[in-house]
Amino acid sequence: MKARMMGFTVLALILGTFAITNQASLNGHGHTVTNAQDYGEDVLKEAVLEMDVEYRLRVKEPNICDPNVQQYSGYLDISNSKHLFFWFFESRSKPDEAPLILWLSGGPGCSSLAALLFDVGPCMVANEGKNLTNNPFSWNSRANIIFLDQPINVGFSYSDDGSTINNSPEAALDVYAFLQKFMARYPKYANSDLHIATRSYGGTYAPNLASVIHQRNKALDIAPISGVKKINLMSVMIGNGIADPHIQDASIPAFACDGPYPLYDPRGSECRNLRDKASICKRLTSFCYRNNNRLACLSAALYCNSQLYGPLERSGRNPYDVRRTCDPREDTSICYKQMDWIETWINDNKEIIGAFSDIEFTSCNLQVSQAFYLQADRMHNSAMLLTDLVNDGIRLLVYAGNADSMCNFIGNERWVVDFENVFHDEFVKAKPKPWITLQEKVTFGTVRSAGGGGLTAGNVTFVTVHEAGHMVPYDQPQAALDLLVRWINNMPLTI
Ligand SMILES: *[C@@H]1O[C@H](CO)[C@@H](O)[C@H](O)[C@H]1NC(C)=O
Ligand SMILES: *[C@@H]1O[C@H](CO)[C@@H](O)[C@H](O)[C@H]1NC(C)=O
Repeated sequence: MKARMMGFTVLALILGTFAITNQASLNGHGHTVTNAQDYGEDVLKEAVLEMDVEYRLRVKEPNICDPNVQQYSGYLDISNSKHLFFWFFESRSKPDEAPLILWLSGGPGCSSLAALLFDVGPCMVANEGKNLTNNPFSWNSRANIIFLDQPINVGFSYSDDGSTINNSPEAALDVYAFLQKFMARYPKYANSDLHIATRSYGGTYAPNLASVIHQRNKALDIAPISGVKKINLMSVMIGNGIADPHIQDASIPAFACDGPYPLYDPRGSECRNLRDKASICKRLTSFCYRNNNRLACLSAALYCNSQLYGPLERSGRNPYDVRRTCDPREDTSICYKQMDWIETWINDNKEIIGAFSDIEFTSCNLQVSQAFYLQADRMHNSAMLLTDLVNDGIRLLVYAGNADSMCNFIGNERWVVDFENVFHDEFVKAKPKPWITLQEKVTFGTVRSAGGGGLTAGNVTFVTVHEAGHMVPYDQPQAALDLLVRWINNMPLTI
């Protein structure tokens, strides 16, 4: 598997942009086949009631990684055939009062455990996967946090009947079922404020999930269903995400030619070509948005990926952090050698975390990525799904490391400027202000915000993080934690 993965492009793993190669079995890990069962309100209700012994046994309480906090890891069964793997950590401080974060990694197809052990979680992989080290800037410093492997067949999550998920709207329904199950199983956290935190392809996952939660909450207000809870969704946090490809793909020339870390001479032929291609990509994406037809969207995906992302990948730089070079043979196919170490550590410790021993863990499942790609899932305007939520009081934070070329900060800011919501005009007029961390008193970037009048972190907020790539907490751990803590406590970022 590993050898074959190298053949794919680097981009495969984060945006689902790769040549369509063999159509190898799209099903996951072949376990005994049971009848395919769909879920829905009825199944949800039943599922919540059947707190049977069997599934209780499938969750462990590890004491590695962050031995001083309560942990749960293992499977929650969201239907008879779908089993989602998670690893939960209580907050290092005041877990009883702390909000709950649901962390989703991107891909599509990448495991949230990779982010856990790379930069977001309480421990980081070290020594080629033989050891873990403590992360003092972990996101569980002030929050309880769930790292969830989704959709099915990603990381340790699996289905018994070979079923697969190839689009974000369906993936969101499964994650919603997971949240219901989690809250039924751990009522202690069921009334906590919930923040969805994600990056990269999560810019597409999170709006889909948040909008399912919001719609179901509204439906539950009108017609409560016993055993199904309203979920206290407070905010959505997207780091270097892809949410509005029409705007974001077209920002590639601005980043690659005129950004803080230019890849090409702004007056050279590469930039001229890139600008021409960006305008063709924009037209194809408009057509996809208007017609919402899979083939139209797939042709936009094929064109934009090969013509705009292709050159970034061939530049010899690390596309997730253009300040660095990337040698796929040395640095793994996604340019960070820790990604191999993470696979080593996790495969050596499946038992401890309650993962199914039959599953060989890989950080990213390329079949899942490919299936999403063929649905042109990435080409939809997911940002649009957030309009109702923001108008109803759910806050939105978009932040971006300014050295990432895959989901560059210019495109991220542009989509937030364009984003339709009641704070739109105020956001357009808002000027970027310095973001100075509370502890170090160092300027780490800029904040642009609307709502809150400087007394809160804002209802719609965009943060540029200087000297950081795609994985902001990896490059700027202190700053990322400052941002998280102020955001979840709704404290202004500009004091
Ligand atoms: C790393 O882990 C190995 C066991 O996997 C252990 O023998 C060794 O002492 C550890 N090294 C450090 C520096 O903790
Ligand atoms: C803005 O956010 C606050 C929380 O800081 C919330 O109470 C308020 O309802 C939001 N405003 C709107 C118009 O949604």
